[in-house]
Amino acid sequence: MIYLDNSATTKPDEQILKAFVQANKRFFANPASLHEMGVESNSLLGRSRQQIAQVLNTTEEQIVFTSGGSESNNFIIKGLARANTHRGKHIIVSAVEHASVLETARALEHEGFTIDYVKVDHQGVIKLDDLKNKLTKDTVVVSIMHVNNEVGAIQPIQEIAQLVHEESRAFFHVDAIQSFGKLPIQFAGEQGPDAITISGHKLNALKGSGVAAFRKRVTIEPIIHGGGQEMGLRSGTVAVPQNVVLAKAIRLADESRQENSAKYSAWRNDLHAFLEPFTEVYVLSSNEGAPHIISCSIAGIKGEVLINAMQANGVIVSTSSACHSKDSKVSHVVQAMGVPDEYARGVIRISFGKDNTDEDIAELKRVFEKVLKQVKGEVKKYEMA
Ligand SMILES: Cc1ncc(COP(=O)(O)O)c(C=O)c1O
Repeated sequence: MIYLDNSATTKPDEQILKAFVQANKRFFANPASLHEMGVESNSLLGRSRQQIAQVLNTTEEQIVFTSGGSESNNFIIKGLARANTHRGKHIIVSAVEHASVLETARALEHEGFTIDYVKVDHQGVIKLDDLKNKLTKDTVVVSIMHVNNEVGAIQPIQEIAQLVHEESRAFFHVDAIQSFGKLPIQFAGEQGPDAITISGHKLNALKGSGVAAFRKRVTIEPIIHGGGQEMGLRSGTVAVPQNVVLAKAIRLADESRQENSAKYSAWRNDLHAFLEPFTEVYVLSSNEGAPHIISCSIAGIKGEVLINAMQANGVIVSTSSACHSKDSKVSHVVQAMGVPDEYARGVIRISFGKDNTDEDIAELKRVFEKVLKQVKGEVKKYEMA
């Protein structure tokens, strides 16, 4: 099987798995324990935190380990909003955020916060004017993702950060889950984002690991209360082995970013050129988008029909996002981009990972062409019936 659903999750790297087993064997002690074994676990955890801080250009006190991207997004948005109500109770997110941001914002609405959704253009890129108009003196959190998980649109993070800092007192959070390891993110300096989110399983590390990282000290409320681990910000016995390999994966992803991005960009451009002559195919992603995601749709064909047919031919792709794969509703991202109706239900997403090869992409093209002929036949039969 050729796996091209790396935006949903990635296969854990061999060296990550080995390191995980080793860390579990040697450093299983609770890092909060005072005995020697606990002290050793804790010092390994500290080194991992340091490594991540170094890659992200911040300090180790600003790194909080969590259970993954969804928890990090919840923690940062809820935590900053609830702890800073004196600044205001207005939150801004983009219309194309991941559910873990949108649903968090919706939950805060029940606590008296008002939410505004920034519009996007037909490529999924936010309208800066709209953001500017929505910022008020009451805005407390702005959360806008770096790379969209469904279509790969890249948001102009530095410009957004500048705008948010110039026009408001709000904290600016960036969900960098799809961008980390593919695009650089400038975190340091007064004009950077205030907080970013990373998830381990998108980086060939393990599911159930993630980071909430801050540029500098902020006032934030925890969402998980208990024993006060993670500087009192995230209680629960810290998963040392998960976090040790997360640090390793973050370092590896950062070191190989340029090489991988160049490889993915070449494949993406090649696929764009390949898809262009098919008049029935609508490509939602642009060549200016993220290098590793390309989504497209065939008029009148449901996404699940396409992915099943591709799977039967040995190629794994997904509908526009794994979270939407079990319902056939049009995704909010596709809606916000104004994708024409006949294409809106049929979006499939192809996402590359570090294990893919040129041969995989050649096979993908061969299978796509074959499946396209098959499904077009199906549509004709359906129309005649
Ligand atoms: C952009 C984005 N944000 C958040 C998440 C959630 O991350 P996790 O699966 O680690 O909870 C995902 C996962 O698909 C994502 O793509």
